[in-house]
Amino acid sequence: MNPSPPFPSPQLFPKDFVWGVATITFQIEGAAAEDGKGLSIWDTFCRQPGRIADASSGDIACDHCHRWPADVDLIADLGVDAYRFSISWPRVQPDGMGAWNEAGLDFYERLIDGLIERGIKPYLTLNHGDLPEALQLRGGWAARDTVHRFVDCARQIAHRFGDRVATITTHNEAWVIAVLGHETGIFAPGLKSRATAMQVVHHLLLSHGLALQAMRPMRAQGCKSRLGVVLNLSPSGPATGSAEDVALARLEDGRSVRWCMDPLFKGHYPQDVLDHLSADAPHIEPDDLTAIATPMDFLGLNYYTRAVVSASGSFDVKTSGKVLTEMGWEVHPEGLTELPLRMHHDRTLPALYLKENGAAFSDEPVDGRVHDVARTDYIARHIAAVADAMKLGVPMAGYMVWSLLDNFEWASGYDKRFGIVHVDYATQRRTPKDSALWHRDFLQHQKAARQTPAQATAAD
Ligand code: FCB
Repeated sequence: MNPSPPFPSPQLFPKDFVWGVATITFQIEGAAAEDGKGLSIWDTFCRQPGRIADASSGDIACDHCHRWPADVDLIADLGVDAYRFSISWPRVQPDGMGAWNEAGLDFYERLIDGLIERGIKPYLTLNHGDLPEALQLRGGWAARDTVHRFVDCARQIAHRFGDRVATITTHNEAWVIAVLGHETGIFAPGLKSRATAMQVVHHLLLSHGLALQAMRPMRAQGCKSRLGVVLNLSPSGPATGSAEDVALARLEDGRSVRWCMDPLFKGHYPQDVLDHLSADAPHIEPDDLTAIATPMDFLGLNYYTRAVVSASGSFDVKTSGKVLTEMGWEVHPEGLTELPLRMHHDRTLPALYLKENGAAFSDEPVDGRVHDVARTDYIARHIAAVADAMKLGVPMAGYMVWSLLDNFEWASGYDKRFGIVHVDYATQRRTPKDSALWHRDFLQHQKAARQTPAQATAAD
């Protein structure tokens, strides 16, 4: 058997560094039509033939809505500090406006209290892509009214849970929701218009800023959550040193990194991307950019891979000889040092949390164990890359593994397994993989090394 990767040195991480695991509502919850939940755009999308690779849906997923107490025990057994999850907007407000669904709010209430009872900090995300279908029928994120509906939802959730959740993230991956959902159409709602996608990014960012402005004054009423947003960011590099490849990589960086980072931290969209988009650039109203740049308490980053671009289209990562995950994504931990370092030099960043990092590999249980060597190695190398960024001065404050459980991987269905815990979908049996055990042991090693001799004696 392959030896486990060595544990990164505990000295590399400060005592208050947050270690966590992440999941997301639609990918694990199931109970798609129970207790008054409304339809989300993903419920509808999954029913359209050809949209999901294995023709599956989120109807049952990991059945987490019914099994959450055991899942919370599982999280506690892993020894993490925090659990990142999202709320399903149509579960708490079926139409995305009007009446609230008390049964849906109660579900999250129980989950949050269950986490806190077990000493785990809840990290809540408001929007992970599962917009209420009723709002999509009114134009979805392309309609400016959805911005105001989202701000109402943020206010309600902060009012209800802000006294207990450590952080509230407005949106997860505005770029993915906008571009994969509205330009390439491979995610819900499955539209194909670049202009719509760019308007959607703008509305997501605007609703983020306005939601922060709505939630911030709630501190006076006991909302203690720190507020921020999570972006998916990847460094883009040229396949060759040719002027065309270098220019294309710069544009790709503009589209994927600067398009969200610049308005959030500099109060304007990058001019090169606006020029490139031309008539597809979003409609922006006066004061929108000021709202978008509302200061945050933290920035979340999801990192999986990098992009290598070639103007001639001759570079293909699949035949490049690089190590790939089952998503076809290159394993490139160095990007997790390079990119945060560049972001840190380029802007004044708040605390930076790695909110998702992990890999799809298909390993099945054998005699009750899952030897997912490649995933364990991936996680260990990316944790080391975070430590390298910190040594260079980047204010990294946490690292969360994607994902706690194997789950519904959007358009790929259940075929792609990202979990550090294996899920047998026929029985819903959970089996921690070797990566989960390595991560648990690593955290124990961290915590033991952090204890001063006096604390160790007190704990005995
Ligand atoms: C991210 C998503 C997450 C999961 C991972 C693999 O882009 O936020 O839900 O699908 O990719």
